[in-house]
Amino acid sequence: MDWLRKLLRPDSGPARTGPLDVRHSRHVAALHHQGGFARGWEPGECAALLADPAVVADGVFGGGSPHPAGFVISRLAADEAEILSIVVTRARRGDGLGRSLLASHLGQLAGRGVAHVYLEVEENNAAADRLYRRFGFREVGRRKGYYPKPDGGRAGAVTMRLDLA
Ligand SMILES: CC(C)(COP(=O)(O)OP(=O)(O)OC[C@H]1O[C@@H](n2cnc3c(N)ncnc32)[C@H](O)[C@@H]1OP(=O)(O)O)[C@@H](O)C(=O)NCCC(=O)NCCS
Repeated sequence: MDWLRKLLRPDSGPARTGPLDVRHSRHVAALHHQGGFARGWEPGECAALLADPAVVADGVFGGGSPHPAGFVISRLAADEAEILSIVVTRARRGDGLGRSLLASHLGQLAGRGVAHVYLEVEENNAAADRLYRRFGFREVGRRKGYYPKPDGGRAGAVTMRLDLA
């Protein structure tokens, strides 16, 4: 009865996407901490990112909530963008929010003249890999032992690229 539980959750319902700004810093930091990354972003760091004119940040909002249930942040340089992070709140993963978020974000990037989008994703991150490949991202390189892990080990990174133009 997973579908019924999802339907009855207060934050369920159609998701909308929209731009994020410094007012969302605390929520972005909280979401980032749910991402499972070795180093979480602090609210001050998120505020600096969200205030940076070279940064494009979008959120996905479930139901009528004013707080984002997920975010994606990219930094622009000339006609390229790098996706710095994308996270959907744990309770809403697998509901298609990541797809909505990335679709809207890539549209924003294309509208700003971005021709090439890059990102790095940890090897064996099946959900992220599937999400990126669905939008046409292709692997262009690998970095061995790139990510520090909470257990002290290291994991490799896959570099992916998508051409928008
Ligand atoms: C990666 C992430 C943003 C995806 O968001 P999401 O809302 O769960 O994704 P969606 O529900 O839109 O699903 C996207 C695709 O991934 C697939 N997917 C979702 N969870 C999956 C899982 N655990 N394993 C394999 N595939 C999965 C879906 O089936 C879907 O594929 P499809 O479109 O071909 O059917 C989310 O899992 C997350 O926040 N993870 C933690 C942070 C992270 O790893 N970010 C990426 C860092 S580079």
